[in-house]
Amino acid sequence: MNQDELKQRVAAEALRYVVKDAPVGVGSGSTVNFFIDALAALKHAIPGAVAASEASAARLRQHGIPVLELNDVDELPVYVDGADEITEHLAMIKGGGGALTREKIIAAVAKRFVCIADASKLVPVLGRFPLPVEVIPMARSYVGRELRKLGGQPALRTGFRTDNGNLILDCSGMSLLDPVKTESELNQIAGVVTNGIFARRPADVLLLGEKTGVRTLGGAKLR
Ligand code: A5P
Repeated sequence: MNQDELKQRVAAEALRYVVKDAPVGVGSGSTVNFFIDALAALKHAIPGAVAASEASAARLRQHGIPVLELNDVDELPVYVDGADEITEHLAMIKGGGGALTREKIIAAVAKRFVCIADASKLVPVLGRFPLPVEVIPMARSYVGRELRKLGGQPALRTGFRTDNGNLILDCSGMSLLDPVKTESELNQIAGVVTNGIFARRPADVLLLGEKTGVRTLGGAKLR
């Protein structure tokens, strides 16, 4: 089974977490694309979806799934998204696709965060994947210097703007042994919009695609 097939499997499994007659939050990335494709089968059972990126919104619309504004949604029972790295404690690095800010907002609103990932994403400690940090353009150099002081090596993601019009610094080499603390610290740097550590609000459940099947980590019960 190749990586895409593993992604497809976890995407299909995540359908079980979608709540009837309620909106669903949808992240972004290649694994989520499989989820959006699978969600089309349930489109008559939900009022629509809140999307974390313009690309996901476009894909939802292609399937005829209404795209809802987060501000118009009172409650979001479930959010389905991928990860660039995830630990057994369900802390993540996200933002490889640059959608980290909207992803973090929707994750904050959602009651349950279901992470879908193939087995390659599970790591003992976060930090091999360069940490994406979204910055306001005028703060790029300053934030870069501050990240260096914290032991990181930031690199500007060239030719890229986020859906919010900002820049991404991909920061390697930073110790993430205490991801909750580092997530908060990075948020204190003026000019940082969001960093890609998702530890203060981790996933509630991980559906991990392995060669032997889908492994479920986390204690979230199905309704
Ligand atoms: C997008 O900004 C990311 O947070 C994605 O969720 C993450 O990069 C996973 O993407 P893939 O499913 O393509 O690996």
